[in-house]
Formats: sequence, structure tokens, C-alpha cells
Amino acid sequence: MIGKKLVALVFSPTGSTLKVVRRFSKHFEDSEIIELTTGKSASNLEFDDETMVLFAFPVYAGRVPDVYFDRLEDVYGDENYAIIIGVYGNRHYDDALFEMYEMLSERDFNVIAAAAFVAEHTYSSKIAGGRPDEADLEMVDAFVDILQLLTPDDIPPKIPGDYPYREGVGVSTWAPYPSDGCISCGVCSMVCPVGIINPDGELPKEMIIDCLHCMACVKRCPTNVRFADDEALLKLIAHLEENFAEPRKEPEIFL
Ligand SMILES: Cc1cc2nc3c(=O)[nH]c(=O)nc-3n(C[C@H](O)[C@H](O)[C@H](O)COP(=O)(O)O)c2cc1C
Ligand code: SF4
Ligand code: SF4
Repeated sequence: MIGKKLVALVFSPTGSTLKVVRRFSKHFEDSEIIELTTGKSASNLEFDDETMVLFAFPVYAGRVPDVYFDRLEDVYGDENYAIIIGVYGNRHYDDALFEMYEMLSERDFNVIAAAAFVAEHTYSSKIAGGRPDEADLEMVDAFVDILQLLTPDDIPPKIPGDYPYREGVGVSTWAPYPSDGCISCGVCSMVCPVGIINPDGELPKEMIIDCLHCMACVKRCPTNVRFADDEALLKLIAHLEENFAEPRKEPEIFL
């Protein structure tokens, strides 16, 4: 059922969703990955009949990140087939796939399937550390194989989730900060999805409210001097490590 052309619209602050998408897109003769991570919105996109559109994002608090939705504001289908991939950190994806499915259905996409893949949790390498691993990526290959076998009769897929959706990420009261040793290289500023870090690495207090807590700035800092040590975050990390480091969850496909 799937054609040869793929357009992937991806949000991936720390790169694991992108790894899954890269593997997925290898199976298409003609594929384009459009990264919506650092500020760019998807606009003026028109999809021809042949094009299947992949929507891929990390799960945040069991939901689709608001900022990803914002960047898709002008994206509409014309009965195009669409696939949803949510990537989560071994806790759960809750209502995220369903929420995305509902939004895409309203925008004239024909969602044919969804999948949840697991990646290292943003906040701890003790939770799904090193994932997606080769076994996960082989499941991406298997997902594409399964998609080839689907027919229009298989639409709509059964996607887990409920409305009202799980309460999402709350208002931000902290953000990572640069400590001694910051060389003002500007890397954190360039990778911040919401553009709230100055080129010298400082983050104005009034911008804290917009922080996604995505940790892109912390993980990409070349001198490892950007920190997040808010008390609520440390408590959350302890809770996640205690409850969700085990058992290993496996990718799931929804048809
Ligand atoms: C703000 C925030 C909320 C998150 N919420 C969840 C969640 O509800 N369930 C889960 O299993 N993982 C959760 N995670 C972990 C990410 O979904 C996971 O690490 C993902 O792979 C990150 O994707 P990326 O590398 O493409 O940015 C959360 C991460 C962040 C930053
Ligand atoms: S990436 Fe690190 S060293 Fe560079 S400006 Fe940001 S905090 Fe400073
Ligand atoms: S400042 Fe906040 S939103 Fe920006 S990269 Fe850092 S954690 Fe992400």
C-alpha cells in the first residue's frame, strides 16, 4: 500500500526520534526528512498523491509536545496516507499517539498505522540507555515490511489512547544554566528548540517559562558545563529510575 515517496516531519531535540526516522526513511526511493526542531515551522508544504507523510516526535508527559503541534499548524493533507511514530523513554506513551491521530484525521490525512518506539530517557541513561539499539531499529524495518502488506480496507487503525488526554507538561519554573567554565561558544543557543538562550549561553529569567526541559542544551554543551539541578527535576529522575528502568519495553505497532 505504501508508495515510494516519503516526507517525514520530525521534532527531535536530543536526536533519538531522528535515529528512528532515518532508519524508516531508508526504505523509500525518494525521501525527505524535514526537521522542525529548531524553530522552523512547516509551511507551504503540498503533498502529491504518491507521497506518504510520516509524523515523528518524542512523547512528553504522555502527550505530543505542544511545540511540535505549533510547527505543524499549516500542515494539511489531501487524503494522503500518514504514519505516526512516537518515541518514549520506557515509561509510557499514554495518549500521545491517539492525540496525533485525531489531529491528523481532522487535517485530511488518512492515518494507516502508528508505532511507539523506545529510546533512552532524556533525564537518565539508566532508563533505556543506548536505545534505540539495533533490535529497535530492526523493528523499524519490520514496521515498514508490515506497512507494505496493508490495504485501504485496513484503515482506520486501532490506536491506543483516550480523550480527555492525560494532563501534559506543566508550566516551566526552571531551565538549565551555564556554570563556571562556560566558553560562550553559543552551541546551546543554536540547539535550543525555542530559542530562549542568548548566544553567550545565558538564559534570561523571564524566558524560563518557555523552557521545554528537553535537555538539548545540556547534552550538546561541548564543555559539559550546562546543568539542570532543580529539586523537582531531581525528584522526578529518582522516581523514573526507581520505577521505569526495568522492565525493558519493546516497540509496539498499531494497525
Ligand atoms: C519534557 C519531557 C517529558 C517526557 N515525558 C515522557 C513520558 O511521558 N513518557 C516516557 O516514557 N518518556 C518521556 N520522556 C522521555 C522522551 O520521550 C524520550 O527520551 C525521547 O526519546 C526523547 O526524544 P528525542 O531524543 O528525539 O528528543 C520525556 C522527556 C521530556 C524531555
Ligand atoms: S554550549 Fe556550554 S560552553 Fe557553550 S555557551 Fe552554552 S553553556 Fe557555555
Ligand atoms: S533551554 Fe530549555 S528548551 Fe532550550 S534547549 Fe535547554 S532545556 Fe531545551
